[in-house]
Amino acid sequence: MATATPKRDILKTLRSEHDELRALFEQINATTDRAVKTRAELLRKVEAGLLPHANWEEEVFYPAIGERADRDGKKAIAEAYLEHHAIESVVMPEVKASDTASPEFAGAAKVFGEQLDHHATEEEGTVFKLARALFSAEELAQFDQQYQDWKASAAGLARVGAEKVKGAVKSTARTLAQ
Ligand SMILES: [Fe+2]
Ligand SMILES: [Fe+2]
Repeated sequence: MATATPKRDILKTLRSEHDELRALFEQINATTDRAVKTRAELLRKVEAGLLPHANWEEEVFYPAIGERADRDGKKAIAEAYLEHHAIESVVMPEVKASDTASPEFAGAAKVFGEQLDHHATEEEGTVFKLARALFSAEELAQFDQQYQDWKASAAGLARVGAEKVKGAVKSTARTLAQ
């Protein structure tokens, strides 16, 4: 693993991925029931961005924060896990099961976007604040490097398929280059 420099910051990366997802949902919400291909493509982009992000938070970032956090911090992490679970197990499958040419899709996608925004906003307010307090700038930079490496790794690829991860890594690289 390359030596990380303190210039990198996992919280900035995760925040910009949240914003990319929010932008995708704005686009989905603006589509009509005739925009079948556009909806499918936007949904594919949402999955490609969301799955590695959420998996890495669950497997690496949340446990690391939970280990150092006090009781309130542990509670915030428990909330975040459950919100992921609700989105991944209930809301997202509902959207994927609905016909992209239907108003049902539009309604389910709207709920998906709302739940995601709610979770991301809470995360930015509570979990990121915790992380800032519990980890040094150097550690936050190391997490950022580790996240990028993980997305390019076999574990990351296995999560969502090579094509999707390639897109996600590209967008992270773009973000980091900014
Ligand atoms: Fe999250
Ligand atoms: Fe997140």
